[in-house]
Amino acid sequence: MSFGADLSGKVALVTGASSGLGLHMAKTLARAGAAVALAARRFERVEAEARALSEAGAKALGVALDVTDPASVEACLEAVRRALGTATILVNNAGIAHTERALELAPATFREVIATNLEGAFFVARAAAKAMVEAGVGGSIVNVASILGLRVAGRVAAYAASKAGLVRLTEALALEWARFGIRVNALAPGYVETDLNRTFLSSEAGQALRQRIPQRRFGRPEDLDGPLLLLASDASAYMTGAVLVVDGGHLVASL
Ligand code: NAI
Repeated sequence: MSFGADLSGKVALVTGASSGLGLHMAKTLARAGAAVALAARRFERVEAEARALSEAGAKALGVALDVTDPASVEACLEAVRRALGTATILVNNAGIAHTERALELAPATFREVIATNLEGAFFVARAAAKAMVEAGVGGSIVNVASILGLRVAGRVAAYAASKAGLVRLTEALALEWARFGIRVNALAPGYVETDLNRTFLSSEAGQALRQRIPQRRFGRPEDLDGPLLLLASDASAYMTGAVLVVDGGHLVASL
């Protein structure tokens, strides 16, 4: 479904597009007409996905990217600019999670989560914004946060801190970049079923979690399509610094 959003002529960059929500969102943007750069560390994966999209008639490119490495981020943005043009839609989706309790969380894991989910998102957003400013065009940056950036649960201390930081970063960048016509918003999904968490979500603990969601179901990647296209397109021209929660009511569950 493209929800009537027409992104023809736009160039979108999706980070962490080798799997899960990133790959799904890249396909959604391509269906809406955007030329899409799929970026992730696993180059063969994004290259193969981009090839499949191209064969289906879209304009797509696979790019190697490690969001924790500023040089890799610069190289990625430059590769996108050369091949497709300046990206004016950025979906900052790359992210990692952990399951250790705070007392058992290794310093290296804490740092890696913050480096990927928060610092990485900043490096990519800034490189994308620089490219837009240099090209004299505005755009839309969509940071993929989480309801765990707004409320907490157990075993997610570093993850929740990184996503809360990303929410505040979204607001700070929205403030600074409004003058350049660059909008910065965040999507805060609840628990969405992907290959990565399907086993957990279907376990006993997962089913107990599902019972606490007012809509009594986990999200599906398609549930993000409308909110993503809203934020990526001019339909949200007067929205910046906003956090769109997409969680089946999980955040408003009864205490
Ligand atoms: P996933 O593990 O399938 O996708 C994460 C992607 O990020 C992968 O493509 C991975 O290769 C990439 N990535 C990780 N580190 C990277 C790095 N240093 N540089 C470049 N790419 C890197 O997980 P999923 O579920 O699709 O998550 C995507 C985003 O959505 C994450 O930011 C996650 O925190 C967020 N999210 C997911 C929810 C869910 O229930 N699945 C709920 C709320 C938010």
